[in-house]
Amino acid sequence: MRHLLDVDDLSPAELRRALDLAELPDPPAVLRGASMALLFEKPSLRTRHSMERAVAQLGGQPVTSQAAEIGLGRRESVEDVTRTLAGYHAAVGARVFHHDTVRRMAAVDVVPIVNLLSDVGHPMQALADLLTLRQVWGGFDGRSVAFVGDANNVCRSFVTAAAMLGLEVRVGSPHGYGFGSADLERFAALGCAPRCTEDPVEAVDGVDAVYADTWISMGQEDEAAARRATFVPYRVDAALMAHARPGAGFLHCLPAHRGEEVTDEVLDAPTSLVWRQAENRMHAARGVLAVLLAGDCT
Ligand code: CP
Ligand code: NVA
Repeated sequence: MRHLLDVDDLSPAELRRALDLAELPDPPAVLRGASMALLFEKPSLRTRHSMERAVAQLGGQPVTSQAAEIGLGRRESVEDVTRTLAGYHAAVGARVFHHDTVRRMAAVDVVPIVNLLSDVGHPMQALADLLTLRQVWGGFDGRSVAFVGDANNVCRSFVTAAAMLGLEVRVGSPHGYGFGSADLERFAALGCAPRCTEDPVEAVDGVDAVYADTWISMGQEDEAAARRATFVPYRVDAALMAHARPGAGFLHCLPAHRGEEVTDEVLDAPTSLVWRQAENRMHAARGVLAVLLAGDCT
């Protein structure tokens, strides 16, 4: 039973295979006659729509529910919901507040579980990010990306995928918002720990692309005022982008908070890759589901 709680549940070969399959116009119909449940404890635009389309493109039927209507963990235990869904579906995706919820679903081990974003990781986003950069650059050799801001779920999965594919990453975060030693050791074990700094200019100096995400992730609303005050020097504007390589790309998982973590001039610039990233969520989802559900790693 395969689960995808973060990108390193794939081998590097499987990760490359997922990106290759994402480019195929006619992927193997691994979900023909089957379905996938998609559960959401938090709002979503890209993840819901890209997953629903990817499941349909693989021949399957997506069945989406809000966790509140299921009563996940309240009306019924996480484990019993998982056992029930396994009777109907070939796979279950879940967007959750606490990573432990997807861990518990996977521990039941009766149906493949796909993390659709937790407080710890966002593997489906990272796959789309690497697909986007590979399309633009043709490969990762000699390339570097700076993630500027909170070393959060999106950053963790991106760095994980980058380490597995040999892409150099730098992370520029305020004091107290960077990675801890456990994360850094995990990245190093995968092949490459990111260079971390509290100086955003040092982070972006000469890089090929700059990545930003919200300063306030879903579930952190109580910390909003303190975070907004802390992160202002990490806003990605034209002045900060000027320290990157000329023509450097801009990445954002979206939704963007215009004027907070990124300015309009950067988000709307011709070098912005964000809409391609958003579309690639669907292609990457198709590729990785084809690998996970068919064991396709040739
Ligand atoms: N990037 C992303 O996961 O977007 P949604 O929250 O809209 O799904
Ligand atoms: N870090 C953000 C990503 C949203 C797609 C969050 O968790 O809310």
